[in-house]
Amino acid sequence: MHVHAYEKIWLVFAILLILLLLGSVTYGAVGPGVAMVADSEDQINANALDEDDRFAEPRVERVGENHYEAYVVAFQFGFQPDPIVVPENSTVTFQVTSRDVIHGFEVVGTNANTMVVPGEVSELTVEVGEPQEYGILCNEYCGAGHHVMEGKLHVVP
Ligand code: CUA
Repeated sequence: MHVHAYEKIWLVFAILLILLLLGSVTYGAVGPGVAMVADSEDQINANALDEDDRFAEPRVERVGENHYEAYVVAFQFGFQPDPIVVPENSTVTFQVTSRDVIHGFEVVGTNANTMVVPGEVSELTVEVGEPQEYGILCNEYCGAGHHVMEGKLHVVP
C-alpha cells in the first residue's frame, strides 16, 4: 500500500498532538503550583470542636522541616483561618472539618478538592510551589450564603 506524503505529515502531526496532550496532563499533575498528593478522613465530634486540639484554634502549624499542617474549620459561610498562610515550596497537610453542614474545600485552579462533612476530618496533603494567592471555594450547596462562601490560601516567600 502506498502512503502519500501528506498523509504521513498528518500522521506525524496527530502523534505529536497526542504526545503534547499527554505531556501537558502529566505536567499539570506534578508541575508547580499546588498539587494534591494524598487524601483520607477520620472521625470527630462536630459539636465539640472547641475542645479539640486542632480545631479549637484553627491555624497553620509547622510539623517538620518543610512540612506544615493547616487545621481548617468550614462553616456557614466561610473558612477559618482566612487567609490560610503557608510558606513556599513546602508540603502542607490540610485537615478540614465542618462545624455545621456539609461543605466543600477546593483550592481554585489546582486539583486539591475535597468534601467537608461534619463529624469527619478530611485530610489532604499538597505540595505548594512559588508564592501565590489562591481562592478557596465551597462547592457543596450549604445554604443561602453558599455562593459567597470563600477563603484564601496565601503561599508566601
Ligand atoms: Cu459551604 Cu457551600
